[in-house]
Amino acid sequence: MPPSSLNILPGIDRLAANANLAGIRLRLVRLHRRLARIRGSNGRMLTLHVNGSLAAFKKEFLLGEIQQMIETRTLERTRYYLRRFRRALTEPHTNRINDLNLRRWKEHPEIITDSLWLLDKRDRSGVHSASYWGNFVPQIPRQLLLRYTKRGEWVCDPFLGSGTTLIEARRIGRNGIGIELQSRIARRTRATLNDERGRSNLRHIVVTGDSASVKMRNVLASAGCSSVQFLILHPPYWNIIRFSRKKGDLSNAPSIESFLQNFGCVLDNTLPALDSGRYLAVVIGDKYQAGEWIPLGFLCMQEVLRRHCRLKSVVVKNVDGTRGKRGTEELWRYRALSGGYYVFKHEYVFIFQKQ
Ligand SMILES: C[S@@+](CC[C@H](N)C(=O)[O-])C[C@H]1O[C@@H](n2cnc3c(N)ncnc32)[C@H](O)[C@@H]1O
Repeated sequence: MPPSSLNILPGIDRLAANANLAGIRLRLVRLHRRLARIRGSNGRMLTLHVNGSLAAFKKEFLLGEIQQMIETRTLERTRYYLRRFRRALTEPHTNRINDLNLRRWKEHPEIITDSLWLLDKRDRSGVHSASYWGNFVPQIPRQLLLRYTKRGEWVCDPFLGSGTTLIEARRIGRNGIGIELQSRIARRTRATLNDERGRSNLRHIVVTGDSASVKMRNVLASAGCSSVQFLILHPPYWNIIRFSRKKGDLSNAPSIESFLQNFGCVLDNTLPALDSGRYLAVVIGDKYQAGEWIPLGFLCMQEVLRRHCRLKSVVVKNVDGTRGKRGTEELWRYRALSGGYYVFKHEYVFIFQKQ
């Protein structure tokens, strides 16, 4: 038995049956001290006996729950918290779209639930790199995969680029399909994924093709799945960065109308692969052209809404020092002041549910 494995449930049951608030508090203080002294694995996890087997819990979560009970002033409330604590330890409460145990939601402070994402520095761990101009920070797909997928499910990224989504999928135990128009980039991304060590029972497929026309049925068959449970689309922000000279490249669309039409074709081709009731996200920023703000984000949002999807959230994410603007902040400030506009410091993550 690991040194930190404890059986605290009988004690919790005895406390719930106790009618003396001061006595309950005293025992909770002792339990808190006892758990706080145990180092646990990684210094963070404690192993408890639950339902006849061993289960790991975040030490911080256990201590926080016990502390809340210690600070409670009425017997009724304390008993309520004791019952809730027991359920949190013994009865997982998950849902259809992720693995979060809602009875232990406090174990996940890293998951953002606000619509303003002020992300810190880009995660550069492992094979992640910022060298592909226009790739998104890994924290974006990570947040989304944790919220909208379960372990072992499939995610599809039709604008794969350097593969940030699939690297994150591999790290947190999701399967993935990525589609990328440029064969050179697709090859490089396959190699990157091979360098990222991960679980061997997962599959990560990189397909070279145009997401507007590639045969999704063949793509799914080659991956060995019949549908996907999450779609994440990070298209070019129209022509801000020209990714290639290829005709199907959304960054080569000659007008905003044709950009939106091509984006719509990608949706028409990939959305049928997504299970109904599941989620998709579009990550995109706006553009400034000829003295006018072009709301690419909201225009793309409208394209999705035309296709039987429900808008669940509009997240505004900070953009800090894009490569194109680095070192020229003063110039952009001057341009903004003289042109009557504001310098872009945000982009959007639109979240939808397929009906
Ligand atoms: C904004 S980047 C995506 C970056 C990606 N999220 C990453 O982290 O590396 C857009 C990508 O879509 C690709 N692309 C453009 N049009 C495409 C299309 N019709 N089908 C597939 N890929 C396309 C571009 O080559 C580019 O790599």
